[in-house]
Amino acid sequence: MSADAAEKETADKMAARGLKGVVAADSKICDVDGDIGKLIYRGYDIDDLAVNSTFEEVAYLLFQGELPSKEQLADFSATLAKHRAIEPELMAFLKGMPRNTPPMTALRSAVSVSAHYDPLAEDSSPQANFEKSIRMTAEMGSLVAAIRRIRDGQEPIQPKPELSHAANFMYMLNGKVPSADAEKAMDLILILHAEHGLNASTFAARVIAATLSDMHSAITGAIGALKGPLHGGANTEVLKTLMEVGSVDRVASYVEETRAKKGKFMGFGHAVYKVEDPRAKHLKELSRRLGIETGEPKWYDMSIKMEECVKAAINKNCNVDFYSASLQHYMGIPGDLFTAVFAASRIVGWCAHVIEQISDNKIIRPSSNYIGPAERKYPA
Ligand code: ACO
Repeated sequence: MSADAAEKETADKMAARGLKGVVAADSKICDVDGDIGKLIYRGYDIDDLAVNSTFEEVAYLLFQGELPSKEQLADFSATLAKHRAIEPELMAFLKGMPRNTPPMTALRSAVSVSAHYDPLAEDSSPQANFEKSIRMTAEMGSLVAAIRRIRDGQEPIQPKPELSHAANFMYMLNGKVPSADAEKAMDLILILHAEHGLNASTFAARVIAATLSDMHSAITGAIGALKGPLHGGANTEVLKTLMEVGSVDRVASYVEETRAKKGKFMGFGHAVYKVEDPRAKHLKELSRRLGIETGEPKWYDMSIKMEECVKAAINKNCNVDFYSASLQHYMGIPGDLFTAVFAASRIVGWCAHVIEQISDNKIIRPSSNYIGPAERKYPA
């Protein structure tokens, strides 16, 4: 073999670390342009959807490919309302969990158990998967809220059918119907986190779906992937960092110290975006406003300073998880619940991808490049 051919063979065999740059699916759901910081759901720019749509509309769009008509939206919203209440058996399961179960662990188990009570759990026809997508979207917010309340020794709250998905979620979390502003803030969080192409958790869901396993298994696996601090779990870590740093005047030294020990800055950097994450500016602006409204601008001010110092230190922009931390903190959501709130939105993207995967399925089975010992004899 020529030197060139040998070099090519080695290069072909080399693992693409983290599958970076590998195109692993054709998808009609979402376009992420990391070079210019653009995020498109089914052809609609996220900036447009953030201002003009609702979570219900976005969910319908992601599932069905088109924005709903008025009638379709009313029907879809009514179906969501119908499925928001948690099955009594599932509620009993939640109440039986140890109080110190981390919320994402509780959510992962709850979604798995919810399959036991779903008559369509083992049916992967397009209609069954669409129906399950609506049910799981409806139920996910209720599960997150119930997990929080049970953990805090409070009785879970039943949903109110007349409220929007965002308002219901906040009502079930806090026991108070939110103000129009608070409802809009939650609606925006849900819209912005709903979908993001072939990210780690969505890829995990598609890998599971591609074996022709069931939708609940795919979503359970996706929740496990989202939980990690390099993915959705980063928002919880961001708040921990802000709490640890404690004041604006300590931010610069924190960044210096972290850089010196080659530590990670949670909520910064992205596998795809080379410029600012297009979702971050919306969350940043809301965080600014709530900082003023709550009379506690410190968390926003610290975040601004951290963004400036991290950019100067390692030239990384903040991602969706960074301002979502101060924002959710202002909204009264406990830090260890942030990733579960993310899941209550991303359920939509996961389900849309499972449906797409099944519609033109091929098992996902990459290869590995063996670098272990050469073949050897079992010792005599
Ligand atoms: N802090 C410090 N160094 C960083 C950071 C960061 N936040 N991000 C990247 N780097 C450095 C590291 O040296 C990294 O190498 P390593 O992964 O071996 O440590 C190097 O830059 C190269 O990173 P990239 O190629 O730019 O990014 P990659 O695709 O490898 O990782 C990731 C992306 C995981 C998001 C990374 O930026 C990171 O760990 N960020 C912090 C965690 C975080 O905020 N995750 C949420 C991402 S958004 C989401 O999933 C919803």
